[in-house]
Amino acid sequence: MADHHFGGIKIRHLYKIFGPNAQAHVDAVKNGLTKAELNERYGHVLGLRDINIEMPSGSIQVIMGLSGSGKSTLIRHINRLIDPTAGEVLVDGVDVVKMNEQELRTFRRHQTAMVFQKFALLPHRNVLDNTLYGLEVQGMERAKAVDTAMRWIERVGLKGFESKYPNQLSGGMQQRVGLARALSNDAPVLLMDEAYSALDPLIRMDMQTVLLDLQKEIRKTVVFITHDLDEALRLGDQIAILRDGEVIQQGTSQDIVLRPADDYVANFVKEVNRGRVVHVEAVMVPMRPGCLPVGTPIEVGTTIEDAMRMIAHGPDGDVAVVDAEGKPVGILNLRLLAGALVSADRDTKQTGASLAEVM
Ligand SMILES: Nc1ncnc2c1ncn2[C@@H]1O[C@H](COP(=O)(O)OP(=O)(O)O)[C@@H](O)[C@H]1O
Ligand SMILES: [Mg+2]
Repeated sequence: MADHHFGGIKIRHLYKIFGPNAQAHVDAVKNGLTKAELNERYGHVLGLRDINIEMPSGSIQVIMGLSGSGKSTLIRHINRLIDPTAGEVLVDGVDVVKMNEQELRTFRRHQTAMVFQKFALLPHRNVLDNTLYGLEVQGMERAKAVDTAMRWIERVGLKGFESKYPNQLSGGMQQRVGLARALSNDAPVLLMDEAYSALDPLIRMDMQTVLLDLQKEIRKTVVFITHDLDEALRLGDQIAILRDGEVIQQGTSQDIVLRPADDYVANFVKEVNRGRVVHVEAVMVPMRPGCLPVGTPIEVGTTIEDAMRMIAHGPDGDVAVVDAEGKPVGILNLRLLAGALVSADRDTKQTGASLAEVM
């Protein structure tokens, strides 16, 4: 089950209407009836409208949006804790919506694992027994379950805490147990619904780092829900932004920050520290004839802030930007990098200066 080619998810034309007569209103919603109209005229709630998202196996898909935008409704369709009103949820090409009880139980147990915001630890079980709970339910023999659980307890940084009880642990440590429990299951799909939203900022950053480090090794399809854009940009290979049950924009961190689809997204983006997000490709200029780059080349994918740090400690002049194979694709200098930051600053402060003026 841990084969890394598994776990790709495709969501197609997914609709969810909450209410006793949901099916009767699907066509009207498909024809443009708004969430407000559906609510006022028929007393039904539009949860999701025409969601189409493709999540490649082995990547982190972030779903972001304000409270009430439909994030939990969406993630709960992936292991069918919620039945859709219309649409398909394909995991490895199999439509979860069409599974019978037995298939669904097997699918949930072996193909998916969930990490919850409230940790959902059993208070009377210690760390070890919380971690191996899922394996126990699956009927795995005790010695093997302990072995597996201990490996993940160590991997999330909880070695030595196996016999502690949840009430003896901080929030961050409890969430590590939640993560270890989910990983012990060895499922290719990991569902995390605001898993870090209740943690203090520094602990939260730590847990993001834990997930990113682990992901290099486990390569799961992670669906990560957050209402925090900084968290979304840090974790997401792909990000989908929801509003009122609809996807407003999907793309990489670069797409979202450099090309926000509308004012709603732009409003989130304007508080972001671009130096830590925007990559050098967005700032570099073409190699000029006769230009002789100095210093150590910078690889594409490097953030503005990291590039500034590297250049600030190198010789004066233009530095080459190179692709993964080392082929030059452009040049950069401190003036260009600073310009990109000042220009970002101008966006938030609205002083009206253009990039050309400040360069
Ligand atoms: N069981 C339900 N019955 C009626 N409305 C619901 C139900 N679950 C969620 N909703 C509504 O669906 C919308 C999306 O909710 P939710 O998915 O929980 O948002 P989020 O997780 O982004 O905060 C909200 O308008 C919410 O009130
Ligand atoms: Mg929610």
